[in-house]
Amino acid sequence: MQSNNDDGNYPYLSDLKKIRENYFLRPDGNNSDHLMAFLKEAVRMVVQHQGVGPTYQRTKPELKLDDVAANAQLSDDLLENPFDVLPSLMGELEGSVKASHPFMTKNVIPLPAWTYFAANLAVSLYMPNAVTGEDAANSVNAELKVAKVYAELAGYDPLVAGGLFTFGGTGTNLYAFKMGISRADPNFVFKGSQNNLVVIGSKPAHYAQQNATNWLGLGRNNYLTARSNTDQTTDLDDLERICVEQIRLGKRIACIVGVGGTTANMAIDDFEQIASMRDQLVRKHHLDYTPHVHSDSVIGWSYLHFADYDFQDNSLGFSLKALAKIRRASDLAKTFKFADSFGIDFHKTGYIPYVSSMIIARNKQDLANLGRDSQMMTPLFFDENAYNPGKYSLETSRSAANMVGTWLTITALGKKGYQILLGHAQEMAQLMRDAVNSESNDTGLFVANNSSYGSDVYIRCYPSSVIPAQQYEKELHDATALSENNSYNSDFYSWLQKSKFSGADGFAIGKTSASFYSPAGDGVTALRIYVLNPYITAGTSLELIKRIAAAKTEFDSALELKPTRAATQKKAVANGPNCWS
Ligand SMILES: Cc1ncc(COP(=O)(O)O)c(C=O)c1O
Repeated sequence: MQSNNDDGNYPYLSDLKKIRENYFLRPDGNNSDHLMAFLKEAVRMVVQHQGVGPTYQRTKPELKLDDVAANAQLSDDLLENPFDVLPSLMGELEGSVKASHPFMTKNVIPLPAWTYFAANLAVSLYMPNAVTGEDAANSVNAELKVAKVYAELAGYDPLVAGGLFTFGGTGTNLYAFKMGISRADPNFVFKGSQNNLVVIGSKPAHYAQQNATNWLGLGRNNYLTARSNTDQTTDLDDLERICVEQIRLGKRIACIVGVGGTTANMAIDDFEQIASMRDQLVRKHHLDYTPHVHSDSVIGWSYLHFADYDFQDNSLGFSLKALAKIRRASDLAKTFKFADSFGIDFHKTGYIPYVSSMIIARNKQDLANLGRDSQMMTPLFFDENAYNPGKYSLETSRSAANMVGTWLTITALGKKGYQILLGHAQEMAQLMRDAVNSESNDTGLFVANNSSYGSDVYIRCYPSSVIPAQQYEKELHDATALSENNSYNSDFYSWLQKSKFSGADGFAIGKTSASFYSPAGDGVTALRIYVLNPYITAGTSLELIKRIAAAKTEFDSALELKPTRAATQKKAVANGPNCWS
């Protein structure tokens, strides 16, 4: 047993010394080389074994979920050399999506920028908690800076606006609804729900909105959805009709949520119109409160980076088709300034890893009003002059490292970096749409969102017996035909998942049961290609479409040998906001 003058003479000291040296940064930081070597080895190993396919290569068959948990054990012993744990990383990743792979386009999954990792790691070494500036000091100021930048880009007065980082797009909705509740029913905080509050969204809204309503205790039945137009924007007449109906029923509207980039098609509402409708409601019905208007813009926010792009000059040289889409998205994003708040997911269209989100309020007082009442113990905040977001944030432990990582990344990429990334995504998505359209009759593939706002491509598939364009038009008004072909698309996707998602020729694309809603409100199932990865090229784009078409031919030939799910009348369920993956 070793002893050390400073350490005393405890039996565990020799092990503690190993732990210190092998696991932790020294107070003077002079073992950081060890940390760098450790990181280097971790990254080297995972990259070396990633395989060539769009998903992390599997070396062993997938375990049943029950077996995964059954085999998990905590070791009794200390692993003296943490390097020994690194080889297990590859097993942890097997089968995972690979954001860097140009044939992995399953969902809104960006490739995260290195600036974030470097900053997050460097700051995490010191563990600042962004609950209070007393502990986090300058590092929590990143929150103020990020909020100011996007409030200003959106057109809010940056001196009046404010923002908070939170745990996801779901968190941004939760904050927005809570701000609305505090306006519509100030007593809610003490008495809870009197079952008199409603939140009104729209049909293609993400299920996170319904979730937030439920978790806030408003009751899911008090979350109502307006019809949507086929491009997924909200049918504003229907929105108004529901608002009026609820007011007549004696309900108070906590929040009207417009779409600021739907999960499918990235549709963005005109918030000037929504806010003006809200203002009229207040006047006409003599409301003694003002319903909060929120933009669920966790996908569309990034188009604010084009707010002052000169579309005439088009210095980045985008094609006319891409430019038109970018301009429309950016013009509509500029209407967020008429909403009382909007949400940002940096981990979606911000090229930042999970989880980094922000709620921005036109008036920071709306956020401050969420503060715990003064009777509640708040033992953390001793410096009244410090920035103390924890006085009103939902979370207590808040990662300042995330804030700095996000700040450094947006600073490094700047408006131009995001313009190039998003513009390239739009260009590649358009190439794919054009490629599908030009061969549609031969391949049975059909673009379900030609007038998309974003860089997502939805491909609806048709059996060889029909002409896609004709059948597509028919299905929009024929629920049976729609449902049958939804089943065909789902079957094809399940087959793709099993047979095409890995390996050198593999491609991992997504599926949605609601690429959009038919006029009758039924979800239209389609394959999803979400283009964000900067490594997607014109070549990989065209190759991806070729691979999908070839796979469909293979699937159709196999189908001829057995009855389809459609033929056995199994219906797909594709209704309501809870159908998103
Ligand atoms: C429009 C929209 N809102 C909210 C969410 C939920 O965001 P998060 O997954 O970050 O909680 C999503 C997720 O895809 C979304 O697309």
